[in-house]
Amino acid sequence: MTTPNATIDANPAWYHTIDLPGGGDPTPGHVDWRGHSARLLDRDLHGLHALDVGTYDGFWAFELERRGAEVVAIDLDRLDAAAWPPVHRARLTADADAFGLELGRGFRIAHRRLGSRVQRVVCDVLALTPDAVGGRRFDLAFLGALLLHLRDPIRALENIRSVLVPGGRLIMLEAISLTETVRAPRTPLARFDTAANAFNWWLPNVAALHDYLWAAGFVEIERISRPLRPPAVPSMRCWYCAFSARAPARP
Ligand SMILES: C[S@@+](CC[C@H](N)C(=O)[O-])C[C@H]1O[C@@H](n2cnc3c(N)ncnc32)[C@H](O)[C@@H]1O
Repeated sequence: MTTPNATIDANPAWYHTIDLPGGGDPTPGHVDWRGHSARLLDRDLHGLHALDVGTYDGFWAFELERRGAEVVAIDLDRLDAAAWPPVHRARLTADADAFGLELGRGFRIAHRRLGSRVQRVVCDVLALTPDAVGGRRFDLAFLGALLLHLRDPIRALENIRSVLVPGGRLIMLEAISLTETVRAPRTPLARFDTAANAFNWWLPNVAALHDYLWAAGFVEIERISRPLRPPAVPSMRCWYCAFSARAPARP
């Protein structure tokens, strides 16, 4: 018989810490958002269609589902389909192969153990349109820790806006530069982060994150958290800030 921990061990690298039913330990994730989800998501999401963008092991998709939403989760088919800075691509591809990293494996295990109905769709956020997700539009989208991996974060936000119903809500929980936030609280700045972190392009301060949303056409933009630092392995320890914003009521 397969023990609960054996199913977890079938994935050599978990990104998310996720509590699974049936006994056994939570998944040994690199980042643990369990202490923050109750503050960032409404308790009751019944009747809503929700989209999780860049789901990885699915922590946020499963949290949305647990609150009653019907959830679609998008991600790339392979890690190296990401917009990694070309200067680092060869090394990152070799590292991903050496560590046996595979997108979707953790999601599949957690999905099965949770008895989840979240639908995972392979879709690049830079190609996201209603047609790419079955002609659907969503009442709520969640976007976490993704924009810093994109050359063009504003394009991604515009695409997310395009799949929301008029007045639909985005909750965005993105990495920030705390240094630039403290140094220039009112000046929108994004640090070019590629030399410091091989996966990253732009690391915005809080003011820039707000203006990303504004430039992409969102309205009712509101910061809904202070800077947050979830428990994480040292290489992924980072500050985040959460915003809520809406697609215009009339597109
Ligand atoms: C750092 S993880 C964040 C996981 C999760 N969203 C969270 O907030 O904890 C980044 C995720 O975004 C995905 N991703 C990166 N580039 C993407 C793209 N262009 N389109 C869709 N997903 C992408 C990665 O494959 C990975 O699942």
